Amino acid sequence: MKKVLLSIVVAASLLTGCQDENSRDEVELTQEQVIDMSDFYAFTTDETEGRGINSPCQSMKVLNRQLDENPGLYKKMYDIEYNTRKLIAAKKGGNGGGKPGGGNGGDGGGGTPPVDDGLGVINIPVYVHVVYSNSNENISDAQISSQMRVLNDDFRMQNSDAGNTPAEFASVAADSEITFSLAGTFRYADSRTSWGTNDAVKSAYPPISPSTHLNIWVCNIGGGILGYAQFPGGNLATDGVVCAPQYFGTTGFVQAPFNKGRTMTHEVGHYLNLRHIWGDGRCRQDDFVSDTPSSDGPNYGCPTYPTVNCRSNDMTMNYMDYTDDACMSLFSQGQKERMRATFQSGGGRASILN
Ligand code: ARG
Ligand code: ZN
Ligand code: CA
Repeated sequence: MKKVLLSIVVAASLLTGCQDENSRDEVELTQEQVIDMSDFYAFTTDETEGRGINSPCQSMKVLNRQLDENPGLYKKMYDIEYNTRKLIAAKKGGNGGGKPGGGNGGDGGGGTPPVDDGLGVINIPVYVHVVYSNSNENISDAQISSQMRVLNDDFRMQNSDAGNTPAEFASVAADSEITFSLAGTFRYADSRTSWGTNDAVKSAYPPISPSTHLNIWVCNIGGGILGYAQFPGGNLATDGVVCAPQYFGTTGFVQAPFNKGRTMTHEVGHYLNLRHIWGDGRCRQDDFVSDTPSSDGPNYGCPTYPTVNCRSNDMTMNYMDYTDDACMSLFSQGQKERMRATFQSGGGRASILN
């Protein structure tokens, strides 16, 4: 009862956009209570947090470096997170949403209710920068379109392997209603053979209109690294996603088991504020998504279902785990809401909508 009242106050303050004089005290008090930020984290110590060591994902490492270099970044990310939670709480009437596998499990697969944020299908225009030191790395237009197709399929739940998702998780699988359109491809010959994860490629070939376009650099990163992304809130000069050519798209210069374009699906998930499915920590550290079960570390390869950790089945086929491309098949409803919240004002990606 109390919760319902509190959330109405939050919803009302969202509608008016600011708090008027007579309700201010009430709103300040109740928002503190409704939006619990106590579990928020941005910095992660290292990959030994959790089962995975030598994790192939660099996005969190890059984030750690950016947090060190940029003293304002933590606060920006905190504010974006607060905003995200406020939006989701307002929509749900103040509680964080249902857990999977709970009482609402056997509803015959009726699907999840659409998120009514009024934005409809959101299109993200994309610039691709191909930076190559040999002809293999100068990937074909066909390879680029194959990646665009995967992004569009995965984010609209049109992926042909959606049927592989076990029933327990198929009930929360979501059409994110986000699409991608190629706005331009740029090719640069460069004698440098590996670019690392220090954003060197972005200073050499700066992003174009990063506030309205997703910039993607395809270049050799080195060290077996697949790709890395920048979270919302970061510096515009380094905004976007970097991916190695062997893991980009589904045809041409691609290498199994990362030859189904899912590295980019994963990285764009980070770009839209998704954390790793296990929350980069042990069982009690969260990805801030209520319908993805808790896990204590990444899964690799192609695990069999069920894979039990933290007393629940891991959603190993989620795009934000570390499994092989062929063994991933969904974003959840809660992840959809997180991603879409970034397009609301204050969300970190709203400028893409113009
Ligand atoms: N580890 C990758 C990274 O560097 C993402 C993992 C993507 N997984 C995949 N099956 N492609 O962020
Ligand atoms: Zn990652
Ligand atoms: Ca979760």
